[in-house]
Amino acid sequence: MTDLPFNPSSPSFSNTGRISGVTKLIWLIIFLMIMNTVNSSAPEDPIKCSSSSSSTGVLKKKSNCTITNYIGAFPDRSTCRAAEAFYPTTEAELVSTVAYATLAKKKVKVATRHSHSLTKLVCPDGDEGLVISTKYLDRVLNVNASAMTMTVESGMMLRQLIKEAAKANMALPYSPYWWGLTVGGMLGTGAHGSSLWGLGSQVHDYVIQLRIVSPAGPGEGYAKVRTLENGNPELDAAKVSLGVLGVISQVTLKLQPLFKRSVTYMTKSDSDIGDQAVRFGREHEFGEITWYPSQKQVIYRIDNRVDSSNSTSGNGLFDFLGYRSLPSLVLLALRTNGTVEETREALEDINGKCIDGRLTSTTLRTAAYGLTNDGIGIFMRYVTTSSAYLGKQEDSIDFDITYYRSKDPLAPRLYEDILEEIEQIAMFKYNGLPHWGKNRNVAFIGAINKFENADKFLKIKQIYDPLGLFSSKWTDQVLGLNKDGLSIMKEGCALEGLCICSEDVHCAPKMGYFCRPGKVYGKARVCAKQY
Ligand SMILES: *[C@@H]1O[C@H](CO)[C@@H](O)[C@H](O)[C@H]1NC(C)=O
Ligand SMILES: *[C@@H]1O[C@H](CO)[C@@H](O)[C@H](O)[C@H]1NC(C)=O
Ligand SMILES: *[C@@H]1O[C@H](CO)[C@@H](O)[C@H](O)[C@H]1NC(C)=O
Ligand SMILES: *[C@@H]1O[C@H](CO)[C@@H](O)[C@H](O)[C@H]1NC(C)=O
Repeated sequence: MTDLPFNPSSPSFSNTGRISGVTKLIWLIIFLMIMNTVNSSAPEDPIKCSSSSSSTGVLKKKSNCTITNYIGAFPDRSTCRAAEAFYPTTEAELVSTVAYATLAKKKVKVATRHSHSLTKLVCPDGDEGLVISTKYLDRVLNVNASAMTMTVESGMMLRQLIKEAAKANMALPYSPYWWGLTVGGMLGTGAHGSSLWGLGSQVHDYVIQLRIVSPAGPGEGYAKVRTLENGNPELDAAKVSLGVLGVISQVTLKLQPLFKRSVTYMTKSDSDIGDQAVRFGREHEFGEITWYPSQKQVIYRIDNRVDSSNSTSGNGLFDFLGYRSLPSLVLLALRTNGTVEETREALEDINGKCIDGRLTSTTLRTAAYGLTNDGIGIFMRYVTTSSAYLGKQEDSIDFDITYYRSKDPLAPRLYEDILEEIEQIAMFKYNGLPHWGKNRNVAFIGAINKFENADKFLKIKQIYDPLGLFSSKWTDQVLGLNKDGLSIMKEGCALEGLCICSEDVHCAPKMGYFCRPGKVYGKARVCAKQY
């Protein structure tokens, strides 16, 4: 345990909670990944229904459905049900679907093609609700090369967006690595890449207009489309909405001229990571850091824009492909199972089309130049202040920690206590913000109070969806509207981040894991192994 530099004197966790006094430690992301649960390489549809298509008026639907996320398990391992699933193919059908749900006062949630969010954003309350899939809303509606804008339907996947933009010599400058995300899904959860430059790395900060369909009264036919332009405060609510304001139908993004990126990796000791992290982010447009605390090593990804006519960097794969080794591919598959096919496809795309090197970078990053990942690898990405009410409050570094969940919810993991302590330090000592689509329950406790504009968001929610049809128990808990809170107190709950332990039974006493104070943060309560 001594090799983790998480102690109060460590530069990156100084007593002020600031890294070099500039950037606050803001996020802790915990990926919930399960190994060996996906047997096929083709991504499965997250919505499964036992009765196939029938129709309600002109709307096609399926009935008696379950809905899950792309790894097939929510943090609490529950199964979400919906009485009906709708698959609108046009905005008009989307409006009819929302009207149908509103008239019937049914709970409703939007599902994207791969349902990438790990949290329960996609689950309508109860068994009688309905889900609206945006998978057929994936068209380009307008490309304006002189204005550098593109309007797309919200179900379009990132991969397709980047490809379509490239056809018009344009690029979405910063985006997440995951090509299977949809435009609507990225906005719903505040997805981002890594940059402190320009408008920063969050996709929603490039939205200049969107159309959203929400419930309405009988006078408006039970559903209403709003067009929100840049400058409208309602856009600041809708840009990161957790899906509770309605269904985003169309999005217009401000793009940039196509460019290439030049990527170099530098490995250094982590002794000065606290000072380096901020400087590095300001110096390199797409800079990103991977920290291997147990090996006291940091890999800095020096990643900058070069003109697309620059021939130095080859076809956009930055000549790194040659280094791609078998172990890295295996690791990549581990990280991405469920959409392996898509990943391969994406690789081919950039190979042929010179869009950028992000996939190769991911591969390399995962291979980590021979540094082994013994359970805690920490990716650090840069995000900037956003005007979105539920977006980032200040320029930040996002800490992204991947760990593999056990198939058995009651089985503790090695370093369990360290992960839990890091999580509690980040969230409760330094007031870090959660990622709406990723964190475990614990990280959302009290999180809404960290957003200055939360009440503005809630006012707009009240206007857009006064009956709360697009809300669920989970979103109400996260938004502080349900006083039950987020903790699920039960045997072993702390092992999966469903609670902070207060008794040994919340850990795994039979396996030697007991509820104990943290090692560096005395207020933390973690499941520690007693030898
Ligand atoms: C991931 O999928 C690939 C392709 O189907 C498979 O060979 C591999 O064993 C899977 N890995 C895990 C951890 O499930
Ligand atoms: C609904 O689906 C479940 C399986 O998910 C099945 O057991 C049940 O019989 C179905 N009910 C109806 C009414 O079709
Ligand atoms: C492109 O955008 C410009 C500036 O907003 C506008 O004047 C023009 O009509 C647009 N062209 C198309 C084809 O939409
Ligand atoms: C082309 O890219 C290389 C490598 O990043 C850089 O050193 C060089 O200055 C660039 N040239 C132009 C004309 O942008």
